[in-house]
Amino acid sequence: ATNRTFTMIKPDAVEAGHIGGILNMIADGGFRIVAMKLTQMTVADAQNFYAIHKERPFFGELVEFMSRGPIVAAILEKENAVEDFRTLIGATNPEQAAEGTIRKKYAKSIGENAVHGSDSDENAAIEGAFHFAGREMF
Ligand code: CMP
Repeated sequence: ATNRTFTMIKPDAVEAGHIGGILNMIADGGFRIVAMKLTQMTVADAQNFYAIHKERPFFGELVEFMSRGPIVAAILEKENAVEDFRTLIGATNPEQAAEGTIRKKYAKSIGENAVHGSDSDENAAIEGAFHFAGREMF
């Protein structure tokens, strides 16, 4: 079925000038952009967005990284969007990311890994609503 996923182009990739390259890979993958903006998370925003990871040893580093500069937040629509987008972005660790994936091409490390993709339909809806008002979703 057609469904939606939520993505962020993370601060490392925005800083490095990869917004255009990543959006091209997303479009070539057959995803339609139904919401999109350049925005920056505060420390509190990042703590809330990643609350599920708050007991992890890398939580502080993750929050600092994700709030350090602008991101591109977007909602994408496609058949099987959540799973297909995770395939397109590749493994969390860029050393393990398959050839042809966004992280293989653009990620620097396991922490600074260029893009986010929701891991379920339920989280896609929660994460999309975190960043977008209803009138910003098309
Ligand atoms: P993502 O899967 O989008 O969401 C959780 C993020 O936590 C992950 O991307 C990485 O950016 C980060 N992360 C996961 N594992 C580590 C780690 N071992 N060290 C630092 N950051 C990590």
